[in-house]
Amino acid sequence: MPGHAQLSIDNVVRECEEARSLGLGGVILFGLPESKDEQASGAYAADGIVQRALRAVRAEVPGLLLITDVCNCEYTSHGHCGVMVDGDVDNDRTLQWLARTAVSHAEAGAGVVAPSDMMDGRVAAIRTALDQAGFVKTAILAYAAKFASAFYGPFREAADSAPQFGDRRTYQMDPANGREALKEMQFDLEEGADMLMVKPAMPYLDLIRQARDRFDVPIAAYQVSGEYSMIMAAVERGWMDYERTMMETLTSIHRAGAGMILNYFAKDAAKLLS
Ligand code: PBG
Ligand code: ZN
Repeated sequence: MPGHAQLSIDNVVRECEEARSLGLGGVILFGLPESKDEQASGAYAADGIVQRALRAVRAEVPGLLLITDVCNCEYTSHGHCGVMVDGDVDNDRTLQWLARTAVSHAEAGAGVVAPSDMMDGRVAAIRTALDQAGFVKTAILAYAAKFASAFYGPFREAADSAPQFGDRRTYQMDPANGREALKEMQFDLEEGADMLMVKPAMPYLDLIRQARDRFDVPIAAYQVSGEYSMIMAAVERGWMDYERTMMETLTSIHRAGAGMILNYFAKDAAKLLS
């Protein structure tokens, strides 16, 4: 992805210092383990890459909000978001991995955990595990309406997390089914989510608006890798203006009702807004 790279921990600290000095609201961390296995053990290891990065940033960049993506697909050898049993992802066994991962992130200093796996019951499982471990103040940003989308392509290549077989349509949502998305958001709230996220953003502005009108919690939207990359590709060809296109898309997501926008333009947008 243009302008983006996998970072070592010292470079993450530098990025976070810059993010803080630009006045960004926070950062979200994704991890790439040294090796992947069937158990996604790198996801919940106390000395996993995200856990070590959190400790380093917490120590060196105080005051920056740290969000973590809680999922398994970067850590499993098969690239699926959960435990594989007989060729299918086993929902309920996956919940234990997710809960362990979330607690390990909170222990390392995450203020917000953001489950992106789309297993049923994960928000309740994570809330219970966090509370039992004493992390009652750690918030949950649920990727509540996460669609099975073509727009994740560049991220999967960058994070080396494409499924080795099959696809994610058994656990991510059908792009045609808006009502199901609203139901998923309702479930996540009932299970204890503090904030709800719609992902991708631009193809689903209608759902951002409906979520904003219907639910009384902060609504986030994630302008994903494919949304970013297609704009960058057009900019590189000289077809569209970088700054205007960036700001127009972010404005549309804000206008639809998102109070928080996860996006790959953030540093440049912050510079323009300051
Ligand atoms: C992990 C995860 C993905 C993204 C965020 N968390 C990939 C996926 O679901 O395949 C995509 C982010 C992006 O495209 O920018 N489940
Ligand atoms: Zn995943």
